[in-house]
Amino acid sequence: MLHLFKNHLSSMMVSIRFMNMEGIYMQIRLKNLKRSYGSLHAVNGISLSIPSNLIYGIIGKSGAGKSTLVRLISLLEKPDDGEVYFDELRVDNLAKEELIRRRRRVGMIFQNFNLFSSRNAAQNVAYPLEIIGTPKGEIKARVAELLELVGLGDRGKAPISTLSGGQKQRVAIARALACNPDILFCDEATSALDPQTTHSILALLKEIQRKMGLTIVMITHQMEVVRDVCDRVAVLDDGRVVEEGPVTDIFAKPKSDVTKEFLSHLVGTDAGSEEQMVQWSSKRGAYILRFRGVTTDQPILSQITRETGIDFNIRAGGVQKVGGEVEIGTLIVDIQGSEEEQESVVARLRELGVHVEKEERP
Ligand SMILES: Nc1ncnc2c1ncn2[C@@H]1O[C@H](COP(=O)(O)OP(=O)(O)OP(=O)(O)O)[C@@H](O)[C@H]1O
Ligand SMILES: [Mg+2]
Repeated sequence: MLHLFKNHLSSMMVSIRFMNMEGIYMQIRLKNLKRSYGSLHAVNGISLSIPSNLIYGIIGKSGAGKSTLVRLISLLEKPDDGEVYFDELRVDNLAKEELIRRRRRVGMIFQNFNLFSSRNAAQNVAYPLEIIGTPKGEIKARVAELLELVGLGDRGKAPISTLSGGQKQRVAIARALACNPDILFCDEATSALDPQTTHSILALLKEIQRKMGLTIVMITHQMEVVRDVCDRVAVLDDGRVVEEGPVTDIFAKPKSDVTKEFLSHLVGTDAGSEEQMVQWSSKRGAYILRFRGVTTDQPILSQITRETGIDFNIRAGGVQKVGGEVEIGTLIVDIQGSEEEQESVVARLRELGVHVEKEERP
């Protein structure tokens, strides 16, 4: 089995990420942000630093406070307490006109697209340019360029009602980019789309991020979105950040229960993708082992069995490509033997760089 696992790993392509290291991009810093609605603490003391020129994920369950946080960072709403900085400039307390100017540096897209149904695709993209008084000729050229960028070069005249969900989101992306924002917020931008369309929209966002050196903040409840496009991620629960870091770390060594739960939904539910978990047994194993990078290349389990005489019973296993690059292997196993023997095996696994989680059983 391990052999199969290894073959699977080595057959996967590893792509090299292109990073634009030039230019100056906006970085966002949040200091102890708070926002309550009555007695409900929707955002309850969040401090975060979102580096520029990457895709930053914010994941959390429904009601965790994601959208509230985004309204605070994008200056649509004022925090009750705390501070928001764009680069070195504090922006949460700006006077109205300066606030409006700053807000233009922020683009947003949503799950339900929020397009004007009375306008066609091109007119939707033109709207923010009209608002800031861009000359007509310039608008025309810019709209054509933006529609081209999102793959809708020939659909400018299409009424919104004739476009598919994926096409509507492309129009929304073009509109959000019209005024050349520094940051693009995507609040559940792919939640209403089927898996294939989700994939194509995520690929487009990734391409745009690289091309324009944009900072994209991706708000989602889907770990697949984090896995496939995000560089870093913050996990939100109950208005607080419970875990934050590079996506590969979060997948290889999840710390919080919320993160582990998100990852467990990914296991075995990813039918159709090449990262699908292979499940040998309907019973879940008692331990989840996560391998990363070099450890995925070594026959660690058979080595430990040889050393200790203790066997593993593998119930499920698979490989996920995180950020399109790094491979994280997951095995769900039982460890044979007494509790003490199991503990010694777990200690040995950890020594060898494997992340081990014990499944809590009632
Ligand atoms: N304007 C408001 N008035 C009252 N309560 C609100 C308001 N906005 C958000 N809340 C409450 O704050 C909490 C966080 O809401 P928020 O919309 O930020 O969650 P979310 O993480 O975006 O959830 P979802 O995944 O469902 O979009 C929820 O309990 C919500 O009911
Ligand atoms: Mg929300």
